[in-house]
Amino acid sequence: MTSQQTEHRGLSVQSISTSFGDGQARVAVLDDISMNVDEGEFVAVVGPSGSGKSTLLNAIAGFAPPDSGELLVNGQPVREPGPSRCVVFQEYAVFPWLTVRRNIDFGTRLRSWTGTRQQRAQIVDRYLDMMGLREFAEALPKTLSGGMRQRVAIARAYAVDPQILLMDEPFAALDAQTREYMQESLIEINQRERRTVMFVTHQVEEAIFLADRVIVMTARPATIQEVVPIPWKGPERTHEIKTDPEFVRLRRHIEGLLRSPDGHGS
Ligand SMILES: Nc1ncnc2c1ncn2[C@@H]1O[C@H](COP(=O)(O)OP(=O)(O)O)[C@@H](O)[C@H]1O
Ligand SMILES: [Mg+2]
Repeated sequence: MTSQQTEHRGLSVQSISTSFGDGQARVAVLDDISMNVDEGEFVAVVGPSGSGKSTLLNAIAGFAPPDSGELLVNGQPVREPGPSRCVVFQEYAVFPWLTVRRNIDFGTRLRSWTGTRQQRAQIVDRYLDMMGLREFAEALPKTLSGGMRQRVAIARAYAVDPQILLMDEPFAALDAQTREYMQESLIEINQRERRTVMFVTHQVEEAIFLADRVIVMTARPATIQEVVPIPWKGPERTHEIKTDPEFVRLRRHIEGLLRSPDGHGS
């Protein structure tokens, strides 16, 4: 335990490259990506559609290990899916045959911590309350709106208490107003239970609103074009900041990067 890597708390992505296909059909998707996400940090990843954002997330989740490079969570190499990382997808992230309560309870069962039945029920109740789901506790997901289903998915992911939470455009299928509510809910839950989060989105405004840092990817093969620090702290993040001149400046800057030849290349 002497190297620097083993001491870093959080996620360490080291020189990840991934390609799909063979021979002439081979397509490079991730090109030597390196980044650290510190414990408790919320990072958003933005990039053009098809640039490799989901590929990066899937590599970190362990669904599709990269061709080369190293992925470490709290210094431990990851090569397969495991409870240290939990993914929230755009859709289908909840079990349709389980009630809301049982979906969240499923999360608590994946915790390395093993408490009594009663303690677990208390945890589930806490997440039901935090995500405004208490009155839907006994409902099945199909009876809920898309936004409510995503609340269940997020509550379940937090209930797992993973070392890192991965979110792949979780609000992309929601209408604009629901999306804003969901962004606020996510900020709230993450203020109460600070987690290490990597959040993929192609909406620049959403990335700035949620994240401590925004990682801007180039078009395929994806490299990191720029890392943009975001100045607002948790409680300052209300929808009003979206019209703040500094917010608008950051937004224009990142949108400019995405439009640049580098952002649109290949
Ligand atoms: N399993 C796969 N086999 C072949 N090509 C893939 C596979 N997964 C993704 N790709 C290709 O890799 C590129 C990046 O995809 P993806 O990571 O889904 O992009 P993003 O999430 O940024 O929109 C796309 O060109 C896509 O077609
Ligand atoms: Mg994607």
